[in-house]
Amino acid sequence: MAAKSLPFRVWAADVSEYGAVSVKDVVEELLPENEWQMVLRFVRPIDQIRALAGKLLTRLVLSKEHGCQWDDVRIATTPERRPFLAHPSPNFDFNLTHDGDWVAIAFTPATAAPFPSSGQNTQLGIDVMEIALPHYESSVLDFVKTMEMTMTNAETSWVRNVALSESSPSDTDRERLRRLFALWTHKEAYTKALGLGMGFDFRNVELRFWDVDRNLLHVNGQLKDDAYSFMSLDLPCGGRHNLGENTSGPLKGAGTGQGSQLVVAYPTAQQRPVPMTYKEAKESSLLHIWNMHDLVEASKHAKNR
Ligand SMILES: CC(C)(COP(=O)(O)OP(=O)(O)OC[C@H]1O[C@@H](n2cnc3c(N)ncnc32)[C@H](O)[C@@H]1OP(=O)(O)O)[C@@H](O)C(=O)NCCC(=O)NCCS
Repeated sequence: MAAKSLPFRVWAADVSEYGAVSVKDVVEELLPENEWQMVLRFVRPIDQIRALAGKLLTRLVLSKEHGCQWDDVRIATTPERRPFLAHPSPNFDFNLTHDGDWVAIAFTPATAAPFPSSGQNTQLGIDVMEIALPHYESSVLDFVKTMEMTMTNAETSWVRNVALSESSPSDTDRERLRRLFALWTHKEAYTKALGLGMGFDFRNVELRFWDVDRNLLHVNGQLKDDAYSFMSLDLPCGGRHNLGENTSGPLKGAGTGQGSQLVVAYPTAQQRPVPMTYKEAKESSLLHIWNMHDLVEASKHAKNR
């Protein structure tokens, strides 16, 4: 499927160049008072920056793409904590994600028709994750073991049994990690589209990547062929890691310089997944990349217009 015909857009902010922004000043200048604490309550600066980027992306999308007044926008959350637009127009859906170097929003563009042939489903879900072994795990196989509780038996064997001809052990581990994160990000995106909160058992969803052309998404053992499909792409590491600085970053919890996987779950009758390259997504209008400096400047402009 061509990027242009997908019923959503993605804006992603590279938060790796966090030095450009004074969070407190920007919060006070650009956000309504009831949102200040949602950003400043975080102890770690990187979490404040991610929260700030999410708030700015949301208002900027609404201002630039939907013509809303910056200060008119009111965001509320469902009891499961899924944010939605409460004012001014309810005819808009979005979902946010943050991890590593990236904060991203998937949203319905002003020109999009309502999700076609998708029954009752009207919501998007997005998830981004840095493809890196968590620091508390000593090996990829240990990590797979930890994550077994989120996978069906068939998924666990797909992750473990990588058959790469003439590949080195590190290639095999890299592929295992990719598969594990593919399952995780797709399941997160799917459950976020449904608006489910913590506590949803990921083993109720099986993603058959080994049979992707026929039937990818199974929920509670049933093929879901009229519900959701997925767009996935790899994001590079954030710009800061290319500056030759210490790639671990001085901020605790910041991106480690690995690439990330981004997945959007969207309602459609056409279930075939849509893998896309970063270049392809950027060159079409599907993906727009922001750095923090430009995001803040564009937000100031939008607020004062
Ligand atoms: C709460 C949850 C949606 C957060 O997702 P995450 O991958 O940890 O974090 P992300 O950065 O991708 O997403 C966080 C954003 O999602 C949005 N969000 C929060 N609750 C949401 C929900 N119920 N549905 C959709 N989106 C939600 C918010 O915008 C939040 O960011 P914000 O707090 O800055 O506004 C997620 O942890 C969750 O509940 N997953 C499903 C169940 C599960 O994890 N099961 C695990 C094991 S069996």
